[in-house]
Amino acid sequence: MLVPAIAPNTTSEFAADVREGLTLRGQKELPSKYLYDEVGSALFEVICHLPEYGLTRADERLLRRYANEIVDRIAGPIAVAELGSGSGRKTRWILEALSRRQRTSYYPIEISRSALVMCERELRDIDSLSIVGFEREYLDGLCEIAQQRKPGQHLLVLFLGSTIGNFDRPQGVKFLASVRQILAPGDSLLLGTDLEKPAAQLVPAYDDALGVTAAFNLNLLARINRELDADFDLSQFVHLARMNYWARSIEMHLQSSRRQKVSIPAAGISIEFKEGETVWTESSHKYSLEEVRRMAVAAAFRCESQWIDEQWPFAENLLIAQ
Ligand code: AVJ
Repeated sequence: MLVPAIAPNTTSEFAADVREGLTLRGQKELPSKYLYDEVGSALFEVICHLPEYGLTRADERLLRRYANEIVDRIAGPIAVAELGSGSGRKTRWILEALSRRQRTSYYPIEISRSALVMCERELRDIDSLSIVGFEREYLDGLCEIAQQRKPGQHLLVLFLGSTIGNFDRPQGVKFLASVRQILAPGDSLLLGTDLEKPAAQLVPAYDDALGVTAAFNLNLLARINRELDADFDLSQFVHLARMNYWARSIEMHLQSSRRQKVSIPAAGISIEFKEGETVWTESSHKYSLEEVRRMAVAAAFRCESQWIDEQWPFAENLLIAQ
């Protein structure tokens, strides 16, 4: 049974973040977490089915193929918490492998209520599994779950889909360290990481021929129109996907096609855009296997094992809290 908790992000937090990002002196930016409202979450689901975007299929192939092996490496009774469950489709394999061994509690943590609802619907048929959703920010939700754990019970935290790639490298390690602080020694973190690959493969993955990723990105402006009463003319912005070779990431931007002014009443601002100016909406960092092991150690985990997909270079990394 899913128990949705209070919504973490009030309109005023959204307004404050939009205001902060769009009034920066240099590069304008918007936090990528706001891409996932109801429309955005549905568009992201479509992205996962696009031929150009191999990431989700690689993640799912690995989880399906190695679920038993992964679960076997974790000892004792465990509860599962997931940071950003999305639809829950990939998680099924781990939860099925676990619930065959023990009654299992699963706690998806999501800022998107519609994703939580999808996830509960997707997984409710699994025997010996109880599902309790948390509509929270990742670390807030994880803290609450860790406090409620039963004595002797270990936590397995899932952070799949290379969502860690939305952080820059130092922030990524900091985030892992924050997760580690909430955990106890012997708890584990299954971390999905997209591996480095050529630009010729990455750029189309983030700028697909159908224009779904463009719609996903532009929806952020549409959301600001809907929720903050703004007057963005979507036809005057274009989606860009560009490599950042220095950061080893791919970035999404929204580029203004002309000089224009946009007012966002609920954020109390009116913003000018130059022709060609961009708003940076997301970065997806790509990793090497060795680098993931180093990040793990820097965050006081030990890397127990890495499973790699050859078709679309991607890794599941099982990290154990030290
Ligand atoms: C869900 C954050 C892993 O960065 O690849 C997909 C989001 N953005 N296409 C990614 C996304 C554009 C995705 N993550």
